[in-house]
This record gives sequence, structure tokens and C-alpha cells, in this order.
Amino acid sequence: MIIAIDGPAGSGKSTAAKGLAERLGFTYLDSGAMYRAFTWKACSSGADFSDKDGLSKLLADTSIRIECSADGTKVFVDDADVTKEIRHPSITENIHHISSLDFVRRKMVDLQRDFAKDKDIIAEGRDMCSVVFPNADKKVYMDADIQERAKRRHSELRAFNNDGSIDNVTEDIVRRDQRDSTRQFAPLKREPDALYLDTTNLDAKDVVDILIKEIEKEQQKD
Ligand code: DC
Repeated sequence: MIIAIDGPAGSGKSTAAKGLAERLGFTYLDSGAMYRAFTWKACSSGADFSDKDGLSKLLADTSIRIECSADGTKVFVDDADVTKEIRHPSITENIHHISSLDFVRRKMVDLQRDFAKDKDIIAEGRDMCSVVFPNADKKVYMDADIQERAKRRHSELRAFNNDGSIDNVTEDIVRRDQRDSTRQFAPLKREPDALYLDTTNLDAKDVVDILIKEIEKEQQKD
């Protein structure tokens, strides 16, 4: 079974996807971690983001692997564990240079489909419903008010000792939303057959409970 969840930053989709995976015993696929992994590689090799040929060669020479265990998702680039490094705000700032490239997206889609083979999956990202798993058993689009999303992101950033103001975080999220939803390849969009879930006033457990009920409904149809 494949459950595909898309939505903007701070919509609560990662927390929901992890919670669902745990409750259902499914494997969690964090597709953003793959884009983060190659962004980390490009940044740490001093790549020029305007040099598409150079990035394409770098990608061909890079191995990206994700491992899921009870301890969470681990991300490896060329066998080095970069699980922590890929969450750094500098990667988040630069990721749009990478996630907008069609040749990068093609490779990531292959890796994601490969990862999902023969597994029950909860896949989370921006193009899970539209591009990667268009035949998913259940599609979900999660969203929340911008103020709430900024609040969530602001508290995540504290883990990196980032003391930026809530206004700066809000601006940053608006900019990312704009980039993710207007890019040429695989933009973030709400698919007509996806369940729309506004999580502004819901806690993580409520969201997982709602989704479990929806998935059970889907299973009863079979
Ligand atoms: O989910 P996240 O915040 O880790 O994602 C980081 C960035 O990666 C996000 O700004 C957009 C990009 N991304 C994407 O383009 N496609 C995906 N399927 C997942 C993430």
C-alpha cells in the first residue's frame, strides 16, 4: 500500500507521516531528505549552482542512500552518514537551486520508486501525489495557516541555535512556498483526488487519527 502526502513546509506532514508509519508498521519515505542530500554534496564540494553540466556530472558520481529503522531515517551520501548535516539551515536555503533541476528530479524519482518497491510506504514531500506515486492508494494534501507554520518552523530552528525572529521565518517560508509552487518541474500543488487536511488547529495525534480513519475507509473499499 502507498500513502502519498504532500504539502508546504510546516504543514505537519513529516510528523504525520512518521506517526502514521509507526502506527501502521509502514516504512516512512522522507523524499525531501534526498534533495537535501544532494544539496549537501553540492555545497560541500563547492559546486557552482549555475553550472548545470557540472552539477549533472556531480550527480552521476554521487550515491544517495536512505535507511529506515526504529531509530528513524538515516541518510548516506557516498557512504558518509550526513543525517544531521542535511538539516542545517544553510542546506534549506540552497535547496531550491537543486530541487528545481529536471535531471536531479528524474534521478530522485527513480530512487524514491526503487525505495518503495515491495514495501508498504508512507511517502512525504512535494510531488508524491502528482509525479512519484500517481497511483497511490491514498493521497493527502496537508496545509496550515502561515502563522502556525512559521511558529512550528521557528521552534524547529531553535535546535540549530538559530535565534531569527518569527518575522524572518515567516518571510523565509513565504519565499520557499513561492519557489516550490511555481517552479517548472514538479511544482507543489494540490491534486484533485487528494484529501485536503488543514492542520492549523490539530495536534499531531489528531492528524494521525484522522488519517488512519481515512486509510481504513480506503481499505474497506477493496
Ligand atoms: O520537506 P523538506 O523541508 O525537507 O524539503 C526541503 C526542500 O526540498 C523543499 O523546499 C522542497 C524540496 N522538495 C522537493 O522539491 N520535492 C520533494 N518531493 C521533497 C522536497
